[in-house]
Amino acid sequence: MTPRPIARITGLGACLPPTVVTNADFEKSLDTSDQWIVERTGIRERRIAGPDLTLAEMCRVASTKALAQANLSAKDLDVIILGTVTPDRRLPATACDLQALLGATNAAAFDISAACPGFVYGLAIARGFIASGQANRILVLGAEKLSTVTDSTDRSTAVLFGDGAGGVVVEPADDSGRGILSSVLGADGTLADLLYIPGGGSADPVSEKVVRERSHFIKMAGREVFKAAVLAMSRACDGALAQAGITADQIDLLVPHQANIRIIEATAKHAGIPMDKVMVNVDRFGNTSAATIPLALDQGVAEGRIKPGSLLLLVTFGAGFTWGSVVVRW
Ligand code: UT7
Repeated sequence: MTPRPIARITGLGACLPPTVVTNADFEKSLDTSDQWIVERTGIRERRIAGPDLTLAEMCRVASTKALAQANLSAKDLDVIILGTVTPDRRLPATACDLQALLGATNAAAFDISAACPGFVYGLAIARGFIASGQANRILVLGAEKLSTVTDSTDRSTAVLFGDGAGGVVVEPADDSGRGILSSVLGADGTLADLLYIPGGGSADPVSEKVVRERSHFIKMAGREVFKAAVLAMSRACDGALAQAGITADQIDLLVPHQANIRIIEATAKHAGIPMDKVMVNVDRFGNTSAATIPLALDQGVAEGRIKPGSLLLLVTFGAGFTWGSVVVRW
């Protein structure tokens, strides 16, 4: 039986930086080609935020739209949760900078570090806050400036990542049946070193050596991550569907993490969902980590593919490893 939702999404907003970097731009600086990038990843272009566009500012733009849609003012918020691995500063949380920018004076604010699943982890936390009665109006964001942790000289990662921000307002569900029906989260820290930033943390603080060795940039064992991503996302979909008491054929739209078109296709195939019911925008924005799902939701709504009552399956995977899946009746 489908459970009664406790929390529902009442507003949505996104922010994409204006600067577009195409595959042809990389052909000028790296030993790569448009053909390799498109065939192996599906990516054609990505957006990059320059030094003047902070993560907090991208979040402010996305949040303002989400709040307007929810008919709320910033002062109505109880909590701000930001999933990101690229905060503007190591201290404090960018969620606090955002709280100040919005004037959300009644809100607690914190970042969560769960890599690409940061937004889905945030949704699950918000649902828990609402279920416990601790908070009622929660802003959940996924936002990244991955361009700041991407090594522009490493062709195996440079072409993959982009910047962007998206977020939703989560409030208690009404009796319409719309809302978050299930959520499954997971992690496997034994595989952490397959996708990580080795230097610049407290284990190996910023130093001349870190910068010289370029260890403050993302390192990834792509092929291993690929295999783990397909397996974990497939299992997470199964778990979230089972918990929601629904079958894949009832899903109107699969909204997967956008890292690689081949991972998306394999996940959809496992779930038994045809590609015409799958949100894909990795071609336009690349992998924006925690931002991919809210950006895809925003696009899905704008294109009329997500309507009130649509049954959505969100699924994601990233560094940690971490993964998560959520079923939502929009
Ligand atoms: O968001 C978090 C989760 N992240 C992911 O899910 C990403 C998962 N991984 C992937 O998407 C893919 O593994 C990549 C797109 C990163 C790589 O694709 P692949 O098909 O797994 O390629 P590969 O790493 O096995 O490399 C194949 C070849 C290598 O050359 P050799 O050793 O066969 O001669 C690479 O050096 O492709 C080479 N290569 C490139 N060639 C041209 C790697 N990057 C590039 C490039 N341009 N940009």
